[in-house]
Amino acid sequence: MSREPSRIGALATLIPYILRYRARLLCSFLLVVAVVAIDLIQPWLVKEVIDCFTASSSPDSGAVLLISAVYLALVLLSFGLTFLQELWLQRTGLSIVRSVRIDLFRHMQRLSLRYFDQNSPGRIITNVANDTETLNTFFTQFLATTLRGGISLLLIMGFMARLDTVIAMCCFLLLPAVMLSATFFQRRLQAANAAARHRLGVFIGYLAENLGGMRIVQIFHQEAKKQRQLDERNRAYFNASVEENRRFLIFFNVTEMLADLTVAALVWFGGNGVIHGVVSFGVLYAFVGYIRRFFQPVSMVLLQMSSLQSAIVASSRIAQTFSEVPDISESQGAEAPTSEGRILFENVSFAYRAGYPVLHDINLVIRPGERVGFVGATGAGKSSIMNLVARFYDVTSGVVLIDGKDIREWPLADLRAVVGIVQQEVTLFSGTVIDNVRFFRTDISEERVRDACRMAGAESIILRLPDGYHTMLSERAATLSAGERQILSFARVFLFNPRILILDEATSNLDSRTEVILQEAIHRVSAGRTLLVIAHRLSTVHEMDLICVLDNGRIVEKGTHRELLARQGYYQRLHHASKTMAVRPELL
Ligand SMILES: Nc1ncnc2c1ncn2[C@@H]1O[C@H](COP(=O)(O)OP(=O)(O)OP(=O)(O)O)[C@@H](O)[C@H]1O
Ligand SMILES: [Mg+2]
Repeated sequence: MSREPSRIGALATLIPYILRYRARLLCSFLLVVAVVAIDLIQPWLVKEVIDCFTASSSPDSGAVLLISAVYLALVLLSFGLTFLQELWLQRTGLSIVRSVRIDLFRHMQRLSLRYFDQNSPGRIITNVANDTETLNTFFTQFLATTLRGGISLLLIMGFMARLDTVIAMCCFLLLPAVMLSATFFQRRLQAANAAARHRLGVFIGYLAENLGGMRIVQIFHQEAKKQRQLDERNRAYFNASVEENRRFLIFFNVTEMLADLTVAALVWFGGNGVIHGVVSFGVLYAFVGYIRRFFQPVSMVLLQMSSLQSAIVASSRIAQTFSEVPDISESQGAEAPTSEGRILFENVSFAYRAGYPVLHDINLVIRPGERVGFVGATGAGKSSIMNLVARFYDVTSGVVLIDGKDIREWPLADLRAVVGIVQQEVTLFSGTVIDNVRFFRTDISEERVRDACRMAGAESIILRLPDGYHTMLSERAATLSAGERQILSFARVFLFNPRILILDEATSNLDSRTEVILQEAIHRVSAGRTLLVIAHRLSTVHEMDLICVLDNGRIVEKGTHRELLARQGYYQRLHHASKTMAVRPELL
């Protein structure tokens, strides 16, 4: 994970969210003001009581009682208001986090696969989970503390000045010293905080990658090495966090000590003043009470600068994600043609990364209802062609047309409804079998799902599961074999019944008998539909109306099985090789 440049302007990303919750934020901030004011009146009240006792030989007990009652009422009020204020602010902070997460996920879902090719899952997860959490801290801590600190500082200065101008001026002179010390520590704290966050990001990224690849780790028996590597990252994070804490503690204690020293000086000089009758005892008491409250806001606000810094970094990353433009954009007002399933590739070239083309000058006409096989070596570009038909990526040049219309002009939802894909790797989601087949579309009846499963030959597999159709599958569906997952995925496309059916190595995990049964089902289902089949096993495509042979991103031969054999070219060599391998399995 890299450290992106951060700008204070990135905080502007938050403006819409602040506006959305402006009423609650405002209420909560008004409450902050009220709580601070109440808090500051308290030393004043005690001073009044003390002065009442010391000023006259017969103190007015009624006034003392009244002041005590007011004090008690203020304490209770302050308790209630603080509770309410914290509750609102926390709730608002969490609501903002929730909204940002929803918007981020919605935005990510619109991004093309290219974004997911380029960003590791660890980085994306950190973005959605951690960066948003940082914003919560920003709202609930930075904003609240700054506001509370700013207001209390102003009020305290006012109160102090009213109590005794000379002592107040002496205290104010200390302000630059406190600020200087806080700034000094704050810089160091900020650096430590940034380092700890960076280490945490690295740790999470590493964890995500390795948990995802646990199978490979175990197979290559790399557990010890991976453990060591994780330990290193964990230790780096630990060290960074310890350092952050150490700096915080030093800072905290130094500030406390400064406050204590000031109180000591105040007691010394103020005490002299009391003895000489220049200052009342009540005023001295109130000053001692205010001095603590005077230091706190300055140091706390400066301390929160690290949370501001984190918020800036987090919002920069969030802003960066929001600024990713979905390169698969929908043309406005597009209308889907009624689909027949005609596909046309015109001079199509394609590159996943600029400068590294994987498909060159593809020209191909596929008529409605035609069955087309694609063969070629690994990495020849077969799956890439299918990615273009489903518009997971856009062509670099040329055009792909379905039913005479450039697919970039199709509404995406309609296009994806017309094109169905079964891949070698099947992803299932956590949910029941039924929900996985109908893809959580509750408007599709269970009966239809069962029909589709029966057609794909999945029913016998499903009924063997503990709860049949209602068995919960885990996220990675590790409870089902690769072949079983593939059959479920067939049931999925049979149910949605697309006009154009793409099978990308879709039967590669099946045994020959199951494959034959499924081929028949495909044959039945695909009647009148366009069928595109990628197969390494040439026998799968013998019967197709058209076979395209790909080599290095180009279609080098086209024709029926018979025509291609007669041509004695690349296909014939492939065919020969596959037969030889069938006879001499040791070559495999
Ligand atoms: N997401 C991607 N980003 C960058 N390059 C990719 C991506 N997917 C595939 N490629 C590259 O594109 C080329 C064609 O890949 P493609 O997946 O189309 O091959 P294929 O013919 O389907 O191979 P196989 O038979 O192994 O499935 C390969 O060189 C591959 O490295
Ligand atoms: Mg492929």
